Amino acid sequence: MPRNIRGPFALAIVLVAALVLGACVPPAATTAPPAAPAATSVTAPTAAMTATAMLAPTAKMTATAMMTATAIMTATAPAMTATAVMTATPAMTTTAAATTTTGISLPSSIPNGATSGKIALLLPETKTARYETADRPLFEAKFKQLCPNCTILYSNANQDANQQLSQAQAALTNGAQVLVLDPVDSAAAGGIADAAKAQGVPVIAYDRLILNSTGVNFYISFDNQRVGELQAQSLVDRLTQLNIAKPQIVMINGSPTDNNAKLFKAGAHSVFDPLVSAGKLTIAKEYDTPDWSPDQAQTEMQQALTALGNKVDGVYAANDGTGGGAIAAMKAAGLSPLPPVTGQDAELAAIQRILTGDQYMTVYKAIRPEAETAAVLADYLLSKQTPPAAMLQGKTVNNTKMDVPSVLLTPVAVTKDIVASTIIADAFWTAQQLCTSAYAAVCSTLGIK
Ligand code: BGC
Repeated sequence: MPRNIRGPFALAIVLVAALVLGACVPPAATTAPPAAPAATSVTAPTAAMTATAMLAPTAKMTATAMMTATAIMTATAPAMTATAVMTATPAMTTTAAATTTTGISLPSSIPNGATSGKIALLLPETKTARYETADRPLFEAKFKQLCPNCTILYSNANQDANQQLSQAQAALTNGAQVLVLDPVDSAAAGGIADAAKAQGVPVIAYDRLILNSTGVNFYISFDNQRVGELQAQSLVDRLTQLNIAKPQIVMINGSPTDNNAKLFKAGAHSVFDPLVSAGKLTIAKEYDTPDWSPDQAQTEMQQALTALGNKVDGVYAANDGTGGGAIAAMKAAGLSPLPPVTGQDAELAAIQRILTGDQYMTVYKAIRPEAETAAVLADYLLSKQTPPAAMLQGKTVNNTKMDVPSVLLTPVAVTKDIVASTIIADAFWTAQQLCTSAYAAVCSTLGIK
């Protein structure tokens, strides 16, 4: 097994043990969340909005009108056929196998799990490929396996926090008994979790933490500070390899309303800043990119190139979308060779750019265990049971109001040389998907088949 996927494998063992244990032991009584400790690593609320204020309709929308923007999907609807899911999902099967491609085992049913009910999945945007191609189909397939007769209300907020608020409100109005929420605005989403709690509806913070609320039951994500560290360290290592003395870099961070973006940025700065202080590296320009928009990232990079007379040795881009925008700007400005650029998400287009050398690295986050763990936790919440303690690895993350029980998965830095042993070995993408004619030669050199 490649060294860099041993972490996830070890986690798998813990999860298997936990779930086996959980199947044998009667569920423990639900414990109240710990009292609110002082805020630690997360930022203060950007908007002081009460739950009531948050839930006042911002647009003149009736619940019915709002629901038109929300796909109501029963688990037995035709859209959930294996074929539909397969088309949209990176190289992943929808069979009922208990073992995922990343080695994490999750149950195909939970003891005394729900046999009916309604939950809502609320995702933040569509500009980044992962949500519609991986998170949604993987979550839905797993939840359908656990509770074939349950209904999933699905919505995507298209990066609009107000729209997400309306969608959450509609889901509650329409009887959702659990919310699985990936917030557009981590701070504002605290109002959604407060409102859900007031109605006795538990909430899972999916991928991005929900801040400022005591209504968050679980948080499932990756070690996001580590994502930023991996990106920055890879860039520094590459610049050293290229023998560039005192390199000058540009930082393109993610959306300022996304708590993850803050963590990626903090992780990256923890690597860069000591080098800056030692006079070994310059961060010549740094941007926060509203909505994580690739177009905006391209504009930011154009501005940086103009201001710096094209003297850029490396680009820290927080994800593959923004990295793609930066690369487009540098190509348009005629930079050759392109300086190393980082990314995140292991998007197909990004892996192809890595094969051709346009992008230096990406961070691979195995979405299957993330989405499937969320589905398992949702089924525990729907059936009013407590998941086995070890499933949460005893971890909590503070959201300024409470310590949220958390599952944090391990991200992996991927450069050209380990695409085969990570992304392909894990079947995140198949060689066939990746190695289309333009990439066939490089795939064969790298042993990707
Ligand atoms: C996610 C990334 C994603 C970004 C933009 C972050 O919160 O963790 O995987 O690229 O949002 O949607």
